Amino acid sequence: MKISVIGCGYLGAVHSACLTELGHEVVGIDVDPEKIALLAAATPPFYEPGLPELLSRSVATGRLRFSTDVSDVRGSEVHFIAVGTPQLAGSDAADLQFVMAAVDSLLPHLASGDLVVGKSTVPVGTARQLSDIVNSHGSGASLAWNPEFLREGFAIKDTLAPDRLVYGLAASDHRGESMLDTVYTRALAGGTPKVVTDFATAELVKVAANAFLATKISFINAMAEVAEATGADVTQLADAIGYDVRIGRRFLNAGLGFGGGCLPKDIRGFMARAKELGVDQALTFLREVDQINTRRRERMVDLAKEVVGGSLVGRRIAVLGLSFKPDSDDVRDSPALDVALRLIESGATVLATDPQAVETARRRYPHIKYVASPAEAAVDADAVLLLTEWREYRDLDPAAFGDLVGTKTILDGRNCLDPGAWRAAGWAYRALGRP
Ligand code: UDX
Repeated sequence: MKISVIGCGYLGAVHSACLTELGHEVVGIDVDPEKIALLAAATPPFYEPGLPELLSRSVATGRLRFSTDVSDVRGSEVHFIAVGTPQLAGSDAADLQFVMAAVDSLLPHLASGDLVVGKSTVPVGTARQLSDIVNSHGSGASLAWNPEFLREGFAIKDTLAPDRLVYGLAASDHRGESMLDTVYTRALAGGTPKVVTDFATAELVKVAANAFLATKISFINAMAEVAEATGADVTQLADAIGYDVRIGRRFLNAGLGFGGGCLPKDIRGFMARAKELGVDQALTFLREVDQINTRRRERMVDLAKEVVGGSLVGRRIAVLGLSFKPDSDDVRDSPALDVALRLIESGATVLATDPQAVETARRRYPHIKYVASPAEAAVDADAVLLLTEWREYRDLDPAAFGDLVGTKTILDGRNCLDPGAWRAAGWAYRALGRP
């Protein structure tokens, strides 16, 4: 198929390259000329494992182009909307200006039979509104909603072989369904389940999934708070309840909590939308989920204060990890970066490192002292804080690493180290939710 993708950020860039891999002919459109130049040269503007190789392969086929000129969508039959919906400044609600602008810019170029497909995460009700706009324009194009569920670090796998496909369609839009089936032929043939539904359900599936995941993480972090007050071990608790298949062990890793460009803003946007709909009571628990999550960051700073003797002023702290999770250079709402900033505010001298996120962090916070490796961060440190569970940090040798620091004190913000091994090497080991 001939396909256009409007918005070449994280979602759109991965989606464009994956659609090409699936055999389609794709044009990716973005208003940012720098981003488009990088993508056209097969260079991802962000870190995602496997994407440089996939982009090179896709661009080399001649079936993937990038452009800043939206009229280049002409000739495509399917047009994916993959622009961002960030949190509005000073509000919990999502900012829809980029989605609206994308649809507006598409309208003059749509032909009869074209399908506009929303992928961006939007407040429930948006698809209906956009469908009316597309229909009333009179081009004969129609709209579908097809939320994405990709995780950073696994974005290619999640796009090529998703857990499920959700199609939100206008009543009896069989043509829309069959066009999406053609887009996703390979995934469907591979057994990916498909849910065909209305617009509102499709929009809600996305935010409900993220709200559930956020709740699961905050649940185990709430248990960590109780564990800290009782001397219990939250990681063993998670293992034990996780054996119950109704509960499941995944997303029960207690620690610094969730961050990133999706979970935090999506639960806030969901609450804001529920309020508009008069059902805010249904989602008040998400406010608690958000607060439990933020409390973990405060607790980490308190723990750091405690282990260095009550005050952080003038203390040297090594911070390992800045991205919101491993295998990503994304620092949006990153718990690790937030803790680093809070430590500095409390008077500590922070030396921070990350395998991929130093540059993205530096762009936002140039005042933090960044170093290239854990070894450099650790020199004369009064305490080491592991805040993002990158493999190279999990694999650190406690004995060799111990020779570099001033004081052998480690705080494991992600419960990812073996306490026994670190204690055996002479370290004072502390973690969230563990004795
Ligand atoms: C999430 C959803 O998983 C994905 O389906 C959706 O499309 C976009 O949002 P992502 O933001 O890439 O994906 O991150 P995810 O892997 O869900 O992790 C979110 C945060 O939760 C990270 O900060 C991670 O460190 C944290 N987390 C995850 C925990 O604290 N504990 C866990 O057990 C799991």
